[in-house]
Amino acid sequence: MNSNDTNFAAAAHRAAFRPDFAWGSATSAAQIEGAGALDGKGPSIWDAFCREPGRINDGSNIDVACDHYHRYRDDVALMKWLGLKAYRFSFAWPRVQPLGRGLWNEPGFAFYDRLIDCLLEAGIAPHATLYHWDLPLALHTQLGGWPAREIVPHFADYAAEVARRFGDRLASLATLNEPWCVATLGYETAQFAPGKTNRAAAMQTSHHLLLAHGRAIQAMRAETKTQLGIVLNHTPAFPATELEADRKAARLDDGLNVRWYMDPVFRGQYPADVLEHLGADAPRMEAGDLAEIAQPLDFLGVNFYTRSYISTQQPKVPAPGQHGFTDMGWEIYPKALTQHLVRITREYSPPPIYITENGMANADRVDADGRVADAERVAYLREHLAALARAIELGVDVRGYFYWSLLDNFEWNSGYAKRFGLFHVDYETQVRTAKDSAHWYRAFIQAQHAGNEPPKAP
Ligand code: FCB
Repeated sequence: MNSNDTNFAAAAHRAAFRPDFAWGSATSAAQIEGAGALDGKGPSIWDAFCREPGRINDGSNIDVACDHYHRYRDDVALMKWLGLKAYRFSFAWPRVQPLGRGLWNEPGFAFYDRLIDCLLEAGIAPHATLYHWDLPLALHTQLGGWPAREIVPHFADYAAEVARRFGDRLASLATLNEPWCVATLGYETAQFAPGKTNRAAAMQTSHHLLLAHGRAIQAMRAETKTQLGIVLNHTPAFPATELEADRKAARLDDGLNVRWYMDPVFRGQYPADVLEHLGADAPRMEAGDLAEIAQPLDFLGVNFYTRSYISTQQPKVPAPGQHGFTDMGWEIYPKALTQHLVRITREYSPPPIYITENGMANADRVDADGRVADAERVAYLREHLAALARAIELGVDVRGYFYWSLLDNFEWNSGYAKRFGLFHVDYETQVRTAKDSAHWYRAFIQAQHAGNEPPKAP
C-alpha cells in the first residue's frame, strides 16, 4: 500500500469534508449477528428463506454468521482501531419483538443496550436502522407480511419503542433500508426473502413500506429528538445509446428505482409515468396515505454502489467498465455518485445526506504473510471518496460516509461467497484480518483529522 497516495487523497479532500464529518462503516443485524435463536429471538423471514433449498447460492444460513452477537466488543475495538467516528448497524426486529407484535423481548433489547454503550465508550456515534430486511416470520405467516396493510401499525409500534428506549443515545435512526430491494427483490424477482414473483404484491409492498415509514416517523417524533430519516438505494440509470428506446427504458428504470421512492417521500406523490406503466399492478391506496408518507425528515441516507446501464438492443450493449467490475459483476463507475447527488439535490432539495452504504465485493484471500492485498478495494474507496468530495464542492450537503461493510458477512442470496469487508472474516475460526483497504481507510481518516499539518504516514 502506498501511504503517500493516502495522504495525497486525504489532503486533496480535506477542504471538502467538514471537520465533524461522520467517517463510518456499516453492517446489518441479519448479516453479522448470528445467535439466530438465542435469548428469545424469534425467527425472521431470512432464517426461513435460508432453510429453503436452492435459495442461497452456497447453501449457507445465518445461524452464526460473524458471531457478532458474542464478539461485538472485539468488533467495536476494530472500529476504534480504524478511527471510525460513526457506525451504522440495524436492530433485528424479531430479536426485540419475536412475533413482530405483542411482547417485547428484554434480553434482545439488552444486547443493543450493551452494543450502544460500547460504541459510545469508544467515542463512536451509533447510527441505527430499524428495518434491514429481517421481518419477524410470524408477521409473514400469520398476517401476510408487507403486502398486508395491517403490518403498518405494528412497524410504527416497534419504531416508537426503539426510539423511546434508545433515541437519546443514537446519532440517527432510519426507518427502512432500501425499500426497493425489499419490494422488488423480495416479491417480484424472488432473489430475496420471502421469494415471491408477483409484481402487484411487490408494488403493494412498496406502498406499505413507505406508509410504515411515514407512520413510524410520526410515532418516533413523540419519543425522541434524534435525527430521523430513511435509507434508499440509488442506482442511476444510463441509456447505453442515444436510441429513443434506450432513453425511454432508462427513464422508466429511474422511475422504478429512484423516483418511485423519492417522489412520495419528498413530494407526496407517486410519479405519473410509473403509475401508468404499472397499470393494474399499481398499489391500492387510501386517502391521506401520501400525506402520511411525506413526513419532514432530518436526513436522507443514500446507498450507492454502481450504475444501471440500460440497453434495449439484442444482444444488449454491455456496460463499458473502464474502471472494471466488482466480484458481484457490478460496474465500477464513481462519476455517477457525483452526478446523482447533484441531481437529487437540485430536483428534491433533500435534507442533509449521509452515504449510508458504498463498497465493493472482491475475491479477497489472506496470503501466507497474513496480508489481504485488496488493491481493487483501495482504488474503489479512493475514487468514490474523490467523487463524493466533488459533489460536496458542487454544493451537495453530505454529513457522513459509511463504507459497506466493516466485516465480510452474509451477502443475502450470495451467502458467504461475496466479501465486502474492510476486515476479512475466516468463518471457520471467526478470525478477523484487516485488509489493505482497512489500513488505507484508517490512514485516510487520520489524515482528515490532521488539520492542516502534513498528514503522517500510516
Ligand atoms: C445493499 C444492502 C446491504 C449489502 C449491500 C452489498 O443492497 O443494503 O445489506 O448487502 O447491498
